Formats: sequence, structure tokens, C-alpha cells
Amino acid sequence: MENFAYLIGDENTGLAAVVDPAWDIEKILKVAQKNNLRIIYVINTHNHPDHTSGNDELVKATGAKIVAHETSRNRKDISAKDGEILRLGSLELKLIHTPGHSPDHMCVLVNGKLMTGDALFVGECGRTDLPGGNSEQLYDSLFNKLMKLAADVEVYPGHNYGPKTHSTIGYEKTHNYVLKPRTAKEFVQFMREP
Ligand SMILES: [Fe+2]
Repeated sequence: MENFAYLIGDENTGLAAVVDPAWDIEKILKVAQKNNLRIIYVINTHNHPDHTSGNDELVKATGAKIVAHETSRNRKDISAKDGEILRLGSLELKLIHTPGHSPDHMCVLVNGKLMTGDALFVGECGRTDLPGGNSEQLYDSLFNKLMKLAADVEVYPGHNYGPKTHSTIGYEKTHNYVLKPRTAKEFVQFMREP
């Protein structure tokens, strides 16, 4: 599935958060240890098992709290609302509700870097034909939320599906065929096509 897991660390306090632990918890713990980071949050962009499968193991090893959107049916210790700021030492993590791929989907913005989960990939977007998927909502999330961010905001997706591992909002605006100018209606139709 080529999931990406992200480790965000605050250099001042050594506090850290993992976005979507996915599969390889041992590796995450090793990198954290090497960088003297203490993982206190596990943030799930959404409730799909390929992203959350490592939650329990990581929580067991670190005592971290699970952060997920308030509509997530998964186990969570902190219920997030759209636009909420999660403090991680001196870092501020902004949680942006971006439903469409799933109702509970959110992106994480920190220091000009955006973790986009399965809402936006490099050159692609997440599918909307799974249970809870909704193309109209994804349109709103992509065009009215993510594409309104500055062009130089870096995009770090939940899967390695593109020609490169990460990009920028500006790159996606120009190169991502999903993000060509469309009305919401046209986008819904476009997402129906194979
Ligand atoms: Fe997903």
C-alpha cells in the first residue's frame, strides 16, 4: 500500500507526534529514539486501517494520546474540530477537516508543511467510492480549503502514489489533473468516471 507515516518533532522540547503510524512501528520508534524525541500524540488523518493499524502498538510503547476528528468512530483520546490547533512544544499543528475520502478525514498543517492523508496525493486525489466517501465534500475540501493555502506550502501525502514523494500546493495546482478548474458538479461527474 506504500503508506507514509510522519514523525513531527519539536527540537526545543523533544516532544513529537506521529501522523498515521501505519505498519512499521519499530522503525518509527527507532527514528524517534535516535533524535531524542518523546512521542506524545498519534494523529490519524482518517480511520482507514492501513493508516491506523499501528495505533495500539505505538500507544503501548509510548503512552501517546490518539488524536482524531470528532466524527471518527475509532478509539481516540482527543477529539479534534476543524481548524483546531494542537500544541506540540513550540510547534502549532493546525488540524483541517477535509472530508470526502472519508467523513472524518483531516489534514495536518505545521510550519508550512501539510500532511494530506488520503485527501490529496502527488498528482492524484483519494477515492470517494468507499463507504462514507463523498465527491461533493472532497471538492469542497480540495478547492475551498487546501487550494486556498499558499502555493509554497509543502504537500506530504498518505501514500507514495505519485511521481515523487512530496510536492507543494503550487505544484499540485499546475500538475494534478484532479485539480483542473471544475465546478462542484463537474467534479462529481469527473469522479464517477473510471
Ligand atoms: Fe484511506
